[in-house]
Amino acid sequence: MPCDLILALDAQSPRDVTPALKQLQGTVRWVKIGLEMFTACGPDCVREISGLGFKVFLDLKLHDIPNTVAKSVESVSKLPIQMLTLHTGGGREMMQWAVKAQQQHAPNLLLLGVTVLTSTSAAGLAETGVPDSPEKQVLRLSRLAIDSGLRGLVCSPLEIVPLRAILPADVALVTPGIRPRDAKADDQTRVMTPAEAARAGASYLVVGRPIFKAPDPVAAARAMLAEISAG
Ligand code: C5P
Repeated sequence: MPCDLILALDAQSPRDVTPALKQLQGTVRWVKIGLEMFTACGPDCVREISGLGFKVFLDLKLHDIPNTVAKSVESVSKLPIQMLTLHTGGGREMMQWAVKAQQQHAPNLLLLGVTVLTSTSAAGLAETGVPDSPEKQVLRLSRLAIDSGLRGLVCSPLEIVPLRAILPADVALVTPGIRPRDAKADDQTRVMTPAEAARAGASYLVVGRPIFKAPDPVAAARAMLAEISAG
């Protein structure tokens, strides 16, 4: 599976990112809209950004009872999006209902499962009643997600190799925590370069600040895409 780049739009309004997006048209294909922008601007921001010619990964991390999640998948299926996240911790039934709604209402939408957030420590996980290590819980929830019908997961760079070892080859792995070798790590700790992540088996790399904060965002995006191809 070839690897592609997703630009993370960590902003409250499309206005904040439109000038950069206009420059990046034709270089970057995918963008990620998260809760910050969606809760501020709603579905209109999705339509606006899709209208600029980008494929949209809507990172809403749905987690609720099966019926509510299925109905939410039906609602967002009216938007021009190509990927949507939900929390695998919602369990088998929630994921199966979501997959059924996706197949019925948005056959081309890729549902991605989020397992253990990388911000969760072993102690934090234990406090929620899970005594296993975060790594073990990631593998458990990933198996459950694929068993429930999901065809993609969000994972940290360090999880790519162990997940590829246990999952069918066609499962998409979407990976943040990516930094070119000479870039600032910002608040990311366990990072990989684009080439390393692509080589390890990532399908999509989510990158924000190394492109947005670069003096020349188009050159930074092009350099990453070249590194991905080489990887
Ligand atoms: O600017 P940066 O490249 O660090 O942005 C990465 C994007 O991926 C952000 O939207 C961030 O919220 C998201 N993310 C992450 N690490 C995770 C999960 C999501 O950086 N473990």
